[in-house]
Amino acid sequence: MVKLGLLVTLLFLSFSVAQECDSNGNCDTHERCSVWVDEGECIRNQDYMKKYCPVACKNGSSKTANSTSDCKDLHPRCRIWRELGECLENPSDMNRYCKKSCDTCKEISDVDESSLCLDKNETCAFWASKGECIANPGFMEMNCAKSCNTCEKVYGIKPRKLAGKKEQLLDWSEEVGVRQSAVGTETESTLARVLASKKYWEGEAAEALPSDLIAKCRNLHGLCSFWAYLGECDKNPAYMATNCGPACHTCHLIDIKTRCPRLEDARPGLQPGSLNKMFERIVRTAPGNNTENSWTNDIKRSMEELGTPPYTVTVHSRPSEEPATQVDPDLDKSLPPWVITFDNFMTEEECDAMIQLGYKYKYKVSEDVGAEKADGTFGSIQSKRGTSEKAWCSSRGGCREEEIPSRIHERIARVLDIPAQNSEDFQILRYEKNLSYRTLHDYIPHQKDRQCGPRILTFFMYLSDVEKGGGTNFPQLDIIVEPKKGRALLWPSVYDSDPFRSDSRFYHQAQAVEEGANYAVYGWIHMYDYVTPQAKGCN
Ligand SMILES: *[C@@H]1O[C@H](CO)[C@@H](O)[C@H](O)[C@H]1NC(C)=O
Ligand SMILES: *[C@@H]1O[C@H](CO)[C@@H](O)[C@H](O)[C@H]1NC(C)=O
Ligand SMILES: *[C@@H]1O[C@H](CO)[C@@H](O)[C@H](O)[C@H]1NC(C)=O
Ligand SMILES: *[C@@H]1O[C@H](CO)[C@@H](O)[C@H](O)[C@H]1NC(C)=O
Ligand SMILES: *[C@@H]1O[C@H](CO)[C@@H](O)[C@H](O)[C@H]1NC(C)=O
Repeated sequence: MVKLGLLVTLLFLSFSVAQECDSNGNCDTHERCSVWVDEGECIRNQDYMKKYCPVACKNGSSKTANSTSDCKDLHPRCRIWRELGECLENPSDMNRYCKKSCDTCKEISDVDESSLCLDKNETCAFWASKGECIANPGFMEMNCAKSCNTCEKVYGIKPRKLAGKKEQLLDWSEEVGVRQSAVGTETESTLARVLASKKYWEGEAAEALPSDLIAKCRNLHGLCSFWAYLGECDKNPAYMATNCGPACHTCHLIDIKTRCPRLEDARPGLQPGSLNKMFERIVRTAPGNNTENSWTNDIKRSMEELGTPPYTVTVHSRPSEEPATQVDPDLDKSLPPWVITFDNFMTEEECDAMIQLGYKYKYKVSEDVGAEKADGTFGSIQSKRGTSEKAWCSSRGGCREEEIPSRIHERIARVLDIPAQNSEDFQILRYEKNLSYRTLHDYIPHQKDRQCGPRILTFFMYLSDVEKGGGTNFPQLDIIVEPKKGRALLWPSVYDSDPFRSDSRFYHQAQAVEEGANYAVYGWIHMYDYVTPQAKGCN
């Protein structure tokens, strides 16, 4: 298939013409002037064209007004490209240069295009879609006359009635979801995307898909086709694949299992038998306990780089005093599991900074994992009994990249010897007086089949001292950890012998704060890289 770059190159070369000059010595300095004139660019891009194509524009001024509706091919190879499938593959270029071959004359030619009645800013259509014509009429009616439909009011020009074909195409779009919106300067390009969707939808590729996928594949937003034209299908695949499948021609990707296959070469954070050894190493090498096996010089240097305080480790529960020698599912269940705390894991300044980040990124009432959506991802629901507030420290808002969160992610990574990429975004929690968290387990079953894999460990960090209450309670283990500023609590959600399997003993709850407010950070470590698939909507 001819790729876009090649197509553009071909067009570029074959349209090169001798430079023209007029009697005053003004010259065209771009080889595509004649093409641009045909496309009406002398009006759309007056300033640019005056500079680069003054002669062609002068000569062509008589024909620009109706040239966009000419039903002709502008390149001798149009027919060949059509055979190669380029009308579908590159609709925006092809519909410009090969209207005849692509058979798009009728559908997109009769667009209201009075020369005065234009949008003066490329963002007009977007603003109009956001209701700006009404909110900000002074500016919008003048500068976005086309998108706001104010040609008549502002310029006294009666817009031509929109052609029936355009309406038919938009009517059709309702068959595949929300009716598509095509307005403003990008009307034609957007309509071309709708037309391409129709051809895709009626073509072999879509026909070959199972009916349940087709049933789920819908444009869920009126601007899907416009966004697709802007290249969002590639730039923002996580959203577009699930919300604009017909516009992006990606119905085959609507199912998360197809879209996000298991990554065969992904390195697991834990192997059978490595959990016990990891905890033993962490206890053995705690720098504040001055044990002889404390940090080696290399680790010491790298920890000091991160400003890591010489924390101490306290063991609340462990399978056995002896180092683990065998991997045994029965022993795993009969022996107590690991629960340890780190004191002085974060400095006071780090704790205060995290609390502040929670305000910056806005504490909100807790949400739970909600019902599975059509595409296989899970929504969230406002927790009825959830009684804390939380703020996500994610990359989307820029929080995760801030100095303190990224430093803490890295510190945890070095303590566990599991990459920071495996760590979910921190969740910063705020419990007011009387507020607690209901009993829950951190393991989320459906993630077992996701690229990130299940949560395997929880790093819970206390950011404040609490006057009374606020402890973390493991009812089945009879363990309560009291909050203390800078303290971190670490427990596994899975078994040593089978790190994909949920260890049901780790239900936990936050006890009500009786005096003062409590702040804490949830850190969840996943089996595989969490960050990369998150960006693709694959978790
Ligand atoms: C002006 O337009 C005519 C007819 O459209 C064309 O034959 C001629 O080459 C054009 N001249 C320039 C300088 O573009
Ligand atoms: C543009 O349209 C007018 C009126 O329909 C017609 O007379 C003229 O020949 C057209 N110009 C070109 C270049 O097709
Ligand atoms: C369109 O509007 C934006 C925002 O006001 C501005 O930055 C941009 O330069 C404008 N573009 C043109 C072509 O005027
Ligand atoms: C490490 O030191 C702390 C504080 O002195 C103590 O509470 C803890 O039990 C020690 N941990 C171990 C594993 O000895
Ligand atoms: C907290 O709980 C206690 C006992 O249930 C109640 O008396 C008190 O009014 C509550 N305080 C607030 C602020 O809700």
